Amino acid sequence: MDKLIIEGGHNLKGEIKINGSKNSALPILVATLLCEDEFVIENVPLLRDIFTIKKVLEVLGVSVTIEGNTVKVDTRGAVGYEAPYELVKQMRASYYVLGPLLTRLGRALVSLPGGCAIGTRPINLHIQGLKKLGADISITHGYIDAYGNKLKGTEIFLEGPNGSSVGATINVMTAATLASGCTTIEGAAMEPEVEDVANFLIKCGAKIKGHGTRRIEIKGVKKLHGCEYKVIPDRIEAGTFALGAAISRGEVFLKGASASHLEAFINKLKNASADIFLEKDGFTVKMDKDIRSTDIETAPFPGFPTDMQAQFTALLCLSTGVSVVRETIFEDRFMHVSELTRMGADIRKEKDYVIIKGVPCLYGTRVMASDLRASAALVLAGLSASGTTEISRIYHIDRGYENIEKRLSGLGAHIWRQEE
Ligand code: EPZ
Repeated sequence: MDKLIIEGGHNLKGEIKINGSKNSALPILVATLLCEDEFVIENVPLLRDIFTIKKVLEVLGVSVTIEGNTVKVDTRGAVGYEAPYELVKQMRASYYVLGPLLTRLGRALVSLPGGCAIGTRPINLHIQGLKKLGADISITHGYIDAYGNKLKGTEIFLEGPNGSSVGATINVMTAATLASGCTTIEGAAMEPEVEDVANFLIKCGAKIKGHGTRRIEIKGVKKLHGCEYKVIPDRIEAGTFALGAAISRGEVFLKGASASHLEAFINKLKNASADIFLEKDGFTVKMDKDIRSTDIETAPFPGFPTDMQAQFTALLCLSTGVSVVRETIFEDRFMHVSELTRMGADIRKEKDYVIIKGVPCLYGTRVMASDLRASAALVLAGLSASGTTEISRIYHIDRGYENIEKRLSGLGAHIWRQEE
């Protein structure tokens, strides 16, 4: 297993190109299952999760070729209906095959994803939504066993106790593209990734309106076709590198980043004293002042993203005051807290929030990555820490950041990968 070594104290400076969005690319690649044709998907990040979804598609009989950041998919062959536990356990997003398989084959057998480091993560809304479209679904022997030859459009409310669900909105919207009649999703997730998947489906011939709002309308069509499509930039990757610039007191231009996807985050970063310069093709983050304490509460889009909570917490550890960070989406998303404490941070966890008392500096030590964004938080902390930070179990970070050590080195960080 590999570990990352970071020698802290070097400011990030320069320009970095933001890759395509992982959380868009995954459901888009899966949605190709809806029809028998060829697709060219561009701007796909080369991440562990993308290679896992490639395996899932291949197990189902689909041909997938990766050339640079372009993925060619050919769904014309026979398609199976089972997504096995061995693959789904590696990545929850494998459950995205549920909607497309049901629609194409009238049958899907998909392993339940199981536990996750950031919370219990139920999938009741996915199942509820697909059932409302007419699917017959039971849970047996750890699998979601679904039948549904004739899905029929209807009104579906998809909000859960913590707000709308990105995954359920995408799964149901995808399945509804080929259902007979009209489907209305109320309480739909408004995340840019949902919009991106809708735009991809529209390019395939689907009739969708209202994506990016709380109410999505889908008029079922008889058939979809292949297309060429370019995935949007990854807002969470952009936000993470923005924080890299801020925590290392540097200045970085995030080329290709979409500021409109990150408004809540950018406002908080400005509040923490960073200067943000919007440019035609991205934005620049500069930090040359003391980090101001800032309170944060995560919320569904357009609120502050839960996927940026751990990384922002790392920044606030070095502020001049006291900050409160509340997590409202995933109950256990504080695995980074104890590791940051080992680096000298002063953080107290209470129920669903943490109280962070800023300290003048963090210290390098050996820490352990526990999930994707928690790992990113430790990398950020390591960039600013005095001395050397060693992060083990970094396979988590490879799930969401392509070649992070190479890209940060390009900005002047002293970071490298080493076999454990
Ligand atoms: C997506 O997960 C992302 N994953 C997550 O990114 C992200 O944190 C999350 O959306 C929220 O933005 C992918 O896109 C692959 P949800 P998803 O359904 O779709 C509850 C990362 O770091 N809920 O929007 O699984 C759920 O418990 C990852 O890249 C139900 O109650 O999240 C949570 O409280 C991690 N029932 C809330 O809804 C359901 O059936 C939002 O979850 C489904 C969800």
